[in-house]
Amino acid sequence: MKKLLIALVALVPTLAFASGSSVHLESANIDLNDTESLQRGLDLFQNNCSGCHSTQYQRYSRVADDLGISLDDMREKFMFDKDAKPGDLMENAIPEDSAAQWFGATPPDLTLVARVRGEDWIYTYLKGFYKDENRPFGVNNIVFPSVGMPHVLEHLQGIPVKQDDGTLVATGGSLNAEEYDQVVRDITGFLVYSGDPVKLERERLGWWVMGFLFIFFVLAYLLKKEYWRDVH
Ligand code: HEC
Repeated sequence: MKKLLIALVALVPTLAFASGSSVHLESANIDLNDTESLQRGLDLFQNNCSGCHSTQYQRYSRVADDLGISLDDMREKFMFDKDAKPGDLMENAIPEDSAAQWFGATPPDLTLVARVRGEDWIYTYLKGFYKDENRPFGVNNIVFPSVGMPHVLEHLQGIPVKQDDGTLVATGGSLNAEEYDQVVRDITGFLVYSGDPVKLERERLGWWVMGFLFIFFVLAYLLKKEYWRDVH
């Protein structure tokens, strides 16, 4: 009983941490088997995010391989540093010191962010910027109060304004709400893939392992029958 109590008390900080954000997170509903979505995610990420954020635990060639992109396409469309080689890590060029000065915080590497924050958090975060004149970039965020990041997808979503009931309504972007949701889903999917690139392979391999176990089970059963045939 005492041990149980100690275990429960030890859990309290974890529970407190888990309940840290009171904002309702929207479900990202990503599909890692949707290769086209992951390719769009890479495209959107490289063009809108990689100027500030690296994904430096990933290599260009590995991503090209996993997402079914040829090395030539990778080099042409997604590698902006012309000295970079396909085997290089996806580091970015923004100097950390000036970034900290410009944004009040260094843009963190995002390779593993989906593992730390979770996919729903990232999805809600990218949909969660809203107009706030008191902030240096004129925006705040519902899941990341006083965020240092500007609303970099404003040209697509427009600028959301918080309504009296707490919902956000965006106007002035080039996409409608549904199209913007898909953009955010694509980026989130790419980041989830980045955080766990072998996940797809693991799932594929899993089916082979199950198949093998099934066949092995049948063989073992037949063998057992053969051994015990004369005993009964
Ligand atoms: C102009 C620079 C800039 C660009 C471009 C940018 N970000 Fe950021 N981002 C930041 C900064 C700075 C922070 C840190 C904010 C803070 O700590 O207040 C940040 C934080 C984040 C975080 C939170 C990380 C964490 O766990 O704390 C995520 C997720 C993120 N950015 C995703 C993106 C995505 C996705 C894009 C592209 C659509 C993007 N960012 C484009 C500057 C940028």
